[in-house]
Parts: sequence; structure tokens; C-alpha cells
Amino acid sequence: MARESGDFVTQFYSGIQEAVVTPVTRAIVESGQGAYLTIEGQPKLNLCSNNYLGLANDERLKLAASRAIEQYGVGTGSVRALSGTNVLHVELEDRLAAFKHAEGALAVTGGYMANMAAIQTIVGKEDIVISDALNHASIIDAVRVAQPQRKYIYAHRDMDELRGNLKEAAGERKTPRSDGKPPIILIITDGVFSMDGDLAPLPEIVELAEEFQALTMVDDAHGEGVLGDHGRGIVDHFGLHGRVDIEVGTLSKAFGVMGGFITGKKELIEYYRRNARQFLFSNGLSIPDTAALIEAVKILEESDERVKRLWENGDYLKEQFAAFGLDCGVSETPITPVMLGEEDLAIEFSKQLLKNGVYATPIKFPMVPKGRARIRVMPSAAHNREDLDKGVSVFHKVAQELSVLQ
Ligand SMILES: Cc1ncc(COP(=O)(O)O)c(C=O)c1O
Repeated sequence: MARESGDFVTQFYSGIQEAVVTPVTRAIVESGQGAYLTIEGQPKLNLCSNNYLGLANDERLKLAASRAIEQYGVGTGSVRALSGTNVLHVELEDRLAAFKHAEGALAVTGGYMANMAAIQTIVGKEDIVISDALNHASIIDAVRVAQPQRKYIYAHRDMDELRGNLKEAAGERKTPRSDGKPPIILIITDGVFSMDGDLAPLPEIVELAEEFQALTMVDDAHGEGVLGDHGRGIVDHFGLHGRVDIEVGTLSKAFGVMGGFITGKKELIEYYRRNARQFLFSNGLSIPDTAALIEAVKILEESDERVKRLWENGDYLKEQFAAFGLDCGVSETPITPVMLGEEDLAIEFSKQLLKNGVYATPIKFPMVPKGRARIRVMPSAAHNREDLDKGVSVFHKVAQELSVLQ
């Protein structure tokens, strides 16, 4: 039956159409990931990927993936809980646990999935969550799904507010859940805040958690491969092994492939393996991804050279940008935001960069608050000094042309 104009379905589609009229510039990459990307047939200096260590196109990872395909094929045939757990999954999880100095690890197909699993599996309606205001969308979504009736959002990195929240939560915990047990209190924070590059004050969070008997969870998506010895992450950076209950990571940034994982105490990981819906009802990592990831962990264990190069490159960029007056915000990591303020300016800035051979996308609302638009510049271990100098001179030119420099 033909739809009549104005019926409910037609109204739905016209709403959708209205929402997508503004054109978006979305680069289609015609090359592998690296210091340069080919976009519309032209090489562009890549200053906005999260391929922090340059592993996404690494020969060892590629070889490991193709060898694994020869041996095991590509797919896993079912969810991990049925026949889909390959020996490679077990090896990857063992290596990840060892790398993170944790008792156990569980790998899933994304950092988003890992956050969903980590939170939704242990938090129920009668539990209490306390979360940093700038936590990643996947944490926010996971808390929404878990639906705790009591949740607190403290201002970004505000430890006084966190203490206040914990005091209130401790009072609320006196009322037991309907199963007779006390509600859990879970404090959740990103480790590195990806848009600003600043760090969670994890030592203070852990101290407060210990004082108020709360559980702690850190999303280390931007800390792995970046912070700590050989890139073991933020817990290692602050020397907090054994004092953070749940570490979530992504395998799609520094590790160069895709996937996510949770590390923690053996029994907690086993609990997730038996109960996490994201693990039970969705297939695991594919064979080539898993094999490439094993190689990535081996590379990180063997040498910290890439991590060091990433930091040198980040420090160099910040120094050069500051020298001609660009505002790089409060970053404590190689993430180098160039703060521009208005969205239109950030969009225009990015367009001009691209015209001059540099690819770095604008970051705007809802990824950052309104009026805080920026270009999130991301050097990697794959860049050499010549690449960075080219980037610096193009940023300088565009900043002058757009009168961004005071
Ligand atoms: C802080 C943070 N957590 C989780 C994720 C999700 O990771 P993935 O892309 O592996 O799903 C991201 C990715 O953007 C992130 O920045």
C-alpha cells in the first residue's frame, strides 16, 4: 500500500531529511594509516588519528594477521561462549593481563563494548555510580543502560565534589538492596580525557575510594601505549597496581587494530566472562585482528621506543605551537588541542589546513562544550621531525591568515 503524504512514517523521514541537510566533510582515506594519508588522490599529513604508535599499518602486525588467516581463516563462527573462542583469543587475553600487570583480561570487539560490559554487568538499579562530568560517551551510555537510581556527576576532576558525593552515597548505602546486600558504589573516570589531553587525578580518586569503600573503574583508552612503563597505562604511570578495581582499554588506538578489553582481579574477569551480555551475545574479535593484536602487545613488551618517540613528537609540537602563540589548553599528554573557540573558526581552520596538505579535523559540540571548539592535533610515533615541521609551518600560515594569533 502506498504511503500517504503526511502519514507518520513520511513525517519520520522528513524529520530525518531536515537533520541531514548540512553537508559534512568526511574524508575517505585511500591509503593505509600512517604519517600521511591519501585523500582524493593526494598525500595529506595526518595529524588527527589515534594510531598513537603507528602500529595500524605495521609490517609485523600485517604478517601476523595474514599467517593467522592461513592457519585459522577469518571468522570465528559463533559467539565466544559457544564455539567461537580460538586459541588466539586466549593468548591475547593472557598477554594483555600480563602487560597490564593484572590478574585477568577479557577481550571484546570495542572499547565501547568493554565499557558497556564493565558497567552494565555489575551495576544494578539499586547501586550507586559516581562519574566525572567529562567521561566518554560510552561510559555515559553504559550508565544509562544500567539505570542506577542514584548517580552523581562531579565537575571535571573536582575532588572536593567527589568527596561530597561519596559522603552522601555512603549514607545511602545504609539502605540495603532488595537482595539484602549493600549497594555498590562505583567511581568511574576516563584516565586521559581525550579532547583536552589532561589526566584524571587517579591517586586522589583511589584514596577517596579506599576511605569510603567504593569500587573504582578507569577507562584507559588514551593511556594505553602512551602512559606508564612501555605504555602500560595510567595505573602503571601512577604506581597504583592492585588499587584500581576495573581497567577498561581499547585496542583500536595505540594497539593499532580494533577491540576493547577489561582487566582486573581473576574472579571479577571470570564473572564478566559468565555474565557480560556484550561477551555472551555478540561475536568476539576476528582471527586476523586477534593475531595482529598479539603482535602489538609483543612489540610493546619488547621495546618502549615507540612510546618515547610519541612523547618527543608531542612535546615538540606543543613547544613549536606555543612559540608562535597557539593555545594548546591543559594537555599533559601528546594530545595537542589547538583551542579556537567558535565552531565556524575551527571548521574554516581545518579546511585551510587541508588545502595546504594537512589533515586535522575540527572538534565541536557535542564532543566538546559550545564555544570550546578546537583542532585536536595528534602526532604519532610514525611522524618524523620533517613531518612535524611541515605541520607546524602550515598551522602557522593558517593561524596568521585567519587572525588567530594575538
Ligand atoms: C575514552 C574512550 N573510551 C572508549 C572509546 C571507545 O573505543 P572503541 O573505538 O574501541 O570502541 C573511545 C573511542 O573513541 C574513547 O575515546
